Amino acid sequence: TLTQAEKAAVVTIWAKVAPQAEAIGAESLERLFLSYPPTKTYFPHFDLSQGSAQLRGHGFKVMNAIGEAVKNIDNIRGALTKLSELHAYILRVDPVNFKLLSHCILCSVAAHYPSEFTPEVHAAWDKFLSSISSVLTEKYR
Ligand code: HEM
Repeated sequence: TLTQAEKAAVVTIWAKVAPQAEAIGAESLERLFLSYPPTKTYFPHFDLSQGSAQLRGHGFKVMNAIGEAVKNIDNIRGALTKLSELHAYILRVDPVNFKLLSHCILCSVAAHYPSEFTPEVHAAWDKFLSSISSVLTEKYR
């Protein structure tokens, strides 16, 4: 679980990210597909070219879900139950991919807000994204 200071750091950076959710989400997906090409196999039905409408739309959805987790930071599990079931039972995304996407989201946030991205903020966001990934992969067990 996150400390009060970590929660505060997550909330502060989210306030910057939220208005840019679509751009940052799409960039995170671009980083994912370029750096880890096998992840593209989950999106055979998508136009994955840079800046495509589907990439932007999906990037927005992903960041929106992260926003829900920020709003419910004391009950991330409750906030993401539906998504957890979707990824485990329907999409069957291999859990390793959550680490890759989390890393790409972290890189995008760092690239957009370099001066805010202190080591403490980095650590807090890393922990927060790990909590989201745990929730989204726990139904596999
Ligand atoms: C769909 C969030 C990780 C593959 C979705 C949706 C959201 C979401 C909000 C849309 C659900 C809906 O339309 O009801 C997240 C979050 C993640 C995550 C917050 C982790 C931080 C992943 C990973 C993969 C993946 C790692 C695979 C590499 C997919 C696919 C869809 C989907 C294939 C369906 C896309 C479509 O056909 O529209 N995800 N996701 N997700 N996700 Fe994830």
